[in-house]
Amino acid sequence: MLTMAPMYSEKVLEHFRNPRNMGEIEDPDGVGDVGNPVCGDLMRITLKIDDETEIITDIKFKTFGCGAAIASSSAVTELVKGNTILEALEVSNKTVIEELGGLPPVKVHCSLLAEQGIAAAIKDYYERRPDKQIPPQVQEKIRKLDRLDPHEMPG
Ligand code: FES
Repeated sequence: MLTMAPMYSEKVLEHFRNPRNMGEIEDPDGVGDVGNPVCGDLMRITLKIDDETEIITDIKFKTFGCGAAIASSSAVTELVKGNTILEALEVSNKTVIEELGGLPPVKVHCSLLAEQGIAAAIKDYYERRPDKQIPPQVQEKIRKLDRLDPHEMPG
């Protein structure tokens, strides 16, 4: 039996058709590889970060996944580019959903990949710079995301 396709906002469709910042930064300062074990979708976030100001000066994504995951990746790159690391950590999957004008409930988990990808890339940045102290906000965010069980996420 055929079922109705989920309804997407214009903004989701627009990001999906014209994704921003797609690709991979050469010689990145941080790389975040994340995936959803339930649907099998994968996302790689690469970052350039100014060591002095800790501003994210460039960001790119590569996503092997559904349209909502691609739109979420594109939206999150626009949201965090130019932010400091601590500002970027404030961006949650809810921020991404708002930016996209909503996502169907079965697609909420796709926006979570974007939040996880940013957090993983920031963590990687600190791991590459042992001279820097990893801020407690980064550890807290990673702990929060690790506690989420993707099997219990909607969709
Ligand atoms: S990220 Fe898996 S279905 Fe969208």
